[in-house]
Amino acid sequence: MENILIIGAAGQIGSELTLALRKEYGDEHVYATDIRQAPRDIVEGGPFQILDVMDDKRLIHFVIRHKITQIYHLAAVLSGNAERIPIQAWQINMSSLMNILDLAKEVEEIKKVFWPSSIAVFGQTTPQIATPQLTVMEPNTVYGISKLAGERWVEYYNRRYKLDVRSIRYPGLISYKTEAGGGTTDYAVEIYYDAVKNNSYECFLKEDTELPMLFMPDAIKATIDLMHADPAKLTVKSSYSIGAISFSPKDVAKEIRKHKPNFEIIYKPDFRQAIADSWPKSIDASVAEHDWGFKPTFDLAKMTEIMLQEIESKTIKK
Ligand code: SER
Repeated sequence: MENILIIGAAGQIGSELTLALRKEYGDEHVYATDIRQAPRDIVEGGPFQILDVMDDKRLIHFVIRHKITQIYHLAAVLSGNAERIPIQAWQINMSSLMNILDLAKEVEEIKKVFWPSSIAVFGQTTPQIATPQLTVMEPNTVYGISKLAGERWVEYYNRRYKLDVRSIRYPGLISYKTEAGGGTTDYAVEIYYDAVKNNSYECFLKEDTELPMLFMPDAIKATIDLMHADPAKLTVKSSYSIGAISFSPKDVAKEIRKHKPNFEIIYKPDFRQAIADSWPKSIDASVAEHDWGFKPTFDLAKMTEIMLQEIESKTIKK
């Protein structure tokens, strides 16, 4: 029997992954936690508790009391926000990961850990088109530096302590359930909300800034597939690159106009432009495809249709 702990269950990934894992393992076996209140379906659909991942004493009590066997550690300060509070972001992102890795090493019942990395591990010196799994990595954002250091630690714990930690370098994630917060790729979430609310959007990136993205259902499926994969087939012990759709703000605006012909967009790039310019435009996911069958299904057109529909129906319900 598995008992799963999710840290960051109120966040963009957590609020969807928790529901998917509850479906699979049973509501009562998936413990959702966060430092803030989570959406209603998370709180009412199974165990939920406010828990600070930095509080290692409470964390260990929680893990032992609930006989936790798997941890998904999703809490992090994202790229844009991290640039505003560099030292604090570094401390939060790194200490929380180290707390979890060390806890998982000490507590025998914990068999598997999941931790998300990001395309932010790459930097200006990385080849930007079809960025390979293994390549130059010189990130110049706090978020990217913390994710790259995290990947090294994940590999270290895998090899040295035989801890089964699995990880994905997510591209920009697009979803309608919980709004993302503080990331550079998040324009591609905001744009749909503003299209529904105001029929216009002020974009903080330039119109032709291409970035790799993935629709949340594909990201959730990828995460679960990786966690189910035969460990003998997993050749990457740090973090797997995945990526599905590459597009720019201009491309999204064009798709939105197919549904809302009067949609307007203006471009006012801010400090996040430099972050986006240092990241890949597209990702070569062939290692993830080979090792555990990564296969995304949504393209920009399909995703746009669903995003607009879902946000519209949420707005009407309110
Ligand atoms: N979506 C993240 C960010 O923009 C990238 O991993 O911060």
